[in-house]
Amino acid sequence: LARARAAIADRARRVADFPKPGIAFKDLTPVLADPEGLSAIVTALTHGCSRVDLVAGIDARGFLLGGAVARELQVGVLAVRKGGKLPPPVIAIDYQLEYGTARLEIPADGIELVGRRVLVVDDVLATGGTSVAAARLLEQAGAEVIGFAVIMELAGLGGRETIAAGLGDVPVHSVTLD
Ligand code: PRP
Repeated sequence: LARARAAIADRARRVADFPKPGIAFKDLTPVLADPEGLSAIVTALTHGCSRVDLVAGIDARGFLLGGAVARELQVGVLAVRKGGKLPPPVIAIDYQLEYGTARLEIPADGIELVGRRVLVVDDVLATGGTSVAAARLLEQAGAEVIGFAVIMELAGLGGRETIAAGLGDVPVHSVTLD
């Protein structure tokens, strides 16, 4: 795991003052584009993972990771999409953003989720709002969310606490703390 962490850190691109002045953004695009970087990401995200029936990747960068993680765990992947992208019928959840609201959706038909153990995967955990909404959506469909795996957890935004407050004792595995 330490080697995987180092491989990720070495390949991340640091961008000053993005998306706002004073914020040092870490772009994971070059990590994903590199064979060793992608492999390190998959190793790190699946570390300690067991008894997963399905991986859910959150729109949009969670899709890239979700597919790779699912293949590693030899399960399928479900895209949790932003509102308006999927054909009906869908199950939807609206949630609060810093400004305004957002919507996540999954198909209401064709995917058996009842009783299935789902690992939710995304690139970044910030405030936790997206993660909690995705988990609630999956639970609404009957799934059991057994954990979250993210590459980067942003410190000081309370994501972990929001997940604990909203969902209880669901494990959150982050590869790096930023
Ligand atoms: C980012 C990130 C997570 C989410 C985390 O996605 O990829 O999905 O924000 O934020 P939160 O913990 O505060 O909810 P974004 O909304 O930028 O969408 P994108 O992946 O489509 O760019």
